[in-house]
Amino acid sequence: MGRITLEKVTKRFGDVEVIPPLDLTIEDGEFVVFVGPSGCGKSTLLRLIAGLEDVSGGEIRIDGTAATSLPPAKRRLAMVFQSYALYPHMSVRKNIAFPLRMAKMDQAEQARRVEDAARVLNLTDYLDRRPGQLSGGQRQRVAIGRAIVREPAAFLFDEPLSNLDAALRVGMRLEISELHKRLQTTMIYVTHDQVEAMTMADKIVVLQAGKIEQTGSPLELYRNPQNKFVAGFIGSPKMNFLTGDVAQAMDAHTIGIRPEHLSLSTDTGMWKGVVGVSEHLGSDTFVHVDVEGQSEHLTVRANGELDLKYKQTVYLTPMEAHIHRFDGDDLRIA
Ligand SMILES: Nc1ncnc2c1ncn2[C@@H]1O[C@H](COP(=O)(O)OP(=O)(O)OP(=O)(O)O)[C@@H](O)[C@H]1O
Ligand SMILES: [Mg+2]
Repeated sequence: MGRITLEKVTKRFGDVEVIPPLDLTIEDGEFVVFVGPSGCGKSTLLRLIAGLEDVSGGEIRIDGTAATSLPPAKRRLAMVFQSYALYPHMSVRKNIAFPLRMAKMDQAEQARRVEDAARVLNLTDYLDRRPGQLSGGQRQRVAIGRAIVREPAAFLFDEPLSNLDAALRVGMRLEISELHKRLQTTMIYVTHDQVEAMTMADKIVVLQAGKIEQTGSPLELYRNPQNKFVAGFIGSPKMNFLTGDVAQAMDAHTIGIRPEHLSLSTDTGMWKGVVGVSEHLGSDTFVHVDVEGQSEHLTVRANGELDLKYKQTVYLTPMEAHIHRFDGDDLRIA
């Protein structure tokens, strides 16, 4: 079991309130991702749940039990950090078993749990190696193994992949998602990378300055961002925003349209523009277009084989059903 509820949880460092009163429910078995820009309070929130920081106010419950003043070891949560913090002189087996040895668990039970974790993580063949004889991805798996053997109510991950190179990150992202499907244990995962959030989460919590901007499934946030911040944060390349006459003609202060929801033509269309840089990815081309009257260029996701000339005139047309409208306070207009 691993249902976690936060009620009016607040955190101040001295006079600075980094988390204003915040309510959040994490359901048993859910994969929840906290995402937001650097300094928005993701790690602080995770550390409050883990008990590594004391709350300044509010209540935390784990499976209905008050946990606010429990020490970390009593919360049945396992934390996995960016730096794996393995013991270099111990074998993988001993590293994974470490929390069980500390808890003086029965030897046979220790061995069973370590072997189970190693099997789940594909580390069986590496149990007698030392961390120095492993790749970065394997080391991260050992760190996860050390969390699994504790059979926690929930796993807490703080940017666990940011030390790995891009290809390995994609691989580990998939492994953690598969691990969640197999274990069905609650996971809370902190990242500043919206792609990780979109690809892994059952539920995304978007934070800005300690405040929850929106909570929802990846596709809910993609389809119905409740404000301009969420609209700009979720999705890659970023949503385009237009203001001025173009937006007023559509009854909004600002309109938003994603690169994949703009069609590009060399003959005709709603907005006339001039081609700037084209980024050729093979699968797609991201064309940057300067549209008259807009201070920022628009990004269009177009066919990968598209060949446009720099400074060529083009026309863009938004797909009506995918236009997002925002008022003067950046809130979504239904
Ligand atoms: N021990 C501390 N004392 C004072 N301020 C702190 C402390 N820890 C964090 N903060 C401040 O709290 C805010 C949130 O920090 P936090 O580490 O939670 O951000 P984050 O979202 O995890 O950022 P990042 O993506 O850079 O890891 C920041 O403004 C930070 O400077
Ligand atoms: Mg952090």
